[in-house]
Amino acid sequence: MSSINYAEKIPNNVNLSEDRKLQRALESWQPHYIDWWKEMGPEGTSTSEIYLRTAISAEPDGWAQFGHVKMEDYRWGIFLAPPEQDRKVNFGAHKGQDAWQEVPGEYRSMLRRLITVQGDTEPASVEQQRLLGQCCPSLYDLRNLFQVNVEEGRHLWAMVYLLHAYFGKDGREEAEEMLARRSGDPDKPRILGAFNEKTADWLAFFMFTFITDRDGKYQLCALAESGFDPLSRSCRFMLTEEAHHMFVGESGVGRIIERACQVMKENRTDDVRKFGVIDLPTIQRYLNFHYSVTSDLYGAEVSTNAATSYNMGLKGRYEETKIGDDHQLEQTTYSVLHPVNGGFQAIEVPALNALNERLRLDWAEDVAKGVERWNKIIAKHGIDFKLTLPHLAFNRAIGHFSDIAVDPQGKVISTEEFARRRDEWLPSQSDLAYVQSLMGGAVHKPGQFANWIAPPPRGINNQSVDFDYVRFA
Ligand SMILES: [Fe+2]
Ligand SMILES: [Fe+2]
Repeated sequence: MSSINYAEKIPNNVNLSEDRKLQRALESWQPHYIDWWKEMGPEGTSTSEIYLRTAISAEPDGWAQFGHVKMEDYRWGIFLAPPEQDRKVNFGAHKGQDAWQEVPGEYRSMLRRLITVQGDTEPASVEQQRLLGQCCPSLYDLRNLFQVNVEEGRHLWAMVYLLHAYFGKDGREEAEEMLARRSGDPDKPRILGAFNEKTADWLAFFMFTFITDRDGKYQLCALAESGFDPLSRSCRFMLTEEAHHMFVGESGVGRIIERACQVMKENRTDDVRKFGVIDLPTIQRYLNFHYSVTSDLYGAEVSTNAATSYNMGLKGRYEETKIGDDHQLEQTTYSVLHPVNGGFQAIEVPALNALNERLRLDWAEDVAKGVERWNKIIAKHGIDFKLTLPHLAFNRAIGHFSDIAVDPQGKVISTEEFARRRDEWLPSQSDLAYVQSLMGGAVHKPGQFANWIAPPPRGINNQSVDFDYVRFA
């Protein structure tokens, strides 16, 4: 069941050839996808050979195979994690019933919306990152960028498969729309705010994959709990790919920090820009930006929408089945921070209405652990500087903190003060211009790295750091 057939036009482990109608529909979407990839995928890559991993089986132990692949020959496919025997709906009003193999009619539009919103983020990030290859700091990093890009493309396939297979004409229309919206386009933007921001430089890319792909992880974990079994199985396989994206982000920022610290020590100065590396305060401002913009992706702190999709059994909590409660939450409350009289107050609200906030806090805790690992790099160099996460109310555009201005420490301030001091806390035009100035040309010599980033301690898949991860035609 779960071995993947690459002889088919669309590689898959869902027995696509047994459903001719579905196969034809997906085969007619495929050229539109390829056109989108050519237009909006990573620029200038069609003829290079890239050392990529490709899924060969969806079993936990054997899915990845590595080899040089021409980007234009890359095979996107449909891979679901193996089914779980006798799987049940594990939460909400239908708890204990058999998991659904078909869409429950009354939940159709809610489910379609959840799948569409998730699906839309996948091509969006490819669009955001499409020019970064032109200023890659090494072949190793270029390869990682492309790996992330092809897998986000595959995640789009994962959601489009569900739309085509289970939502008929409406689903096919949504699948077309996925290729029509464009990140940052004023007329046809991507659905969620963070996916319309620019990813203009590699520090932004690494912050994005560390922080925003981690939002992806938590959203996928919540959808992997779904009572709609095909969605659960799709998301479980996507999660195995997501882990690498977050590794790229965390290790990338870590290597920029490492390089900054080396230069600070060698030259006994904090003023490292004149040596062409990125100073720690700028890294802090990027962190503040990506953290606050990504916080918004979880939606309003108190939300009846989240309660509804939980009650319906469509979207669960992070690690739902490991939580020791009744999984229905009708009688429980959850403490949520509210803005009250110029300060903050924790207020108990019905737990069902606090599910967005709960998922956001699970994510925030995970982000904080990564930041602590970055601080260990700084401490190892004996440098007295600590990166910190801003207060959750800082720089928010969605939810009940969006009406107030807050500094990174969580002090409520006037909007005038926020505007005046904004550049202390968020990347200024001159920060962005400085980082951009480092993104001169691409480094294409195996084993060489741009001056502003340290080499990784080891290569990909046991290859050496100076391996030719990308071969140009
Ligand atoms: Fe993804
Ligand atoms: Fe990702």
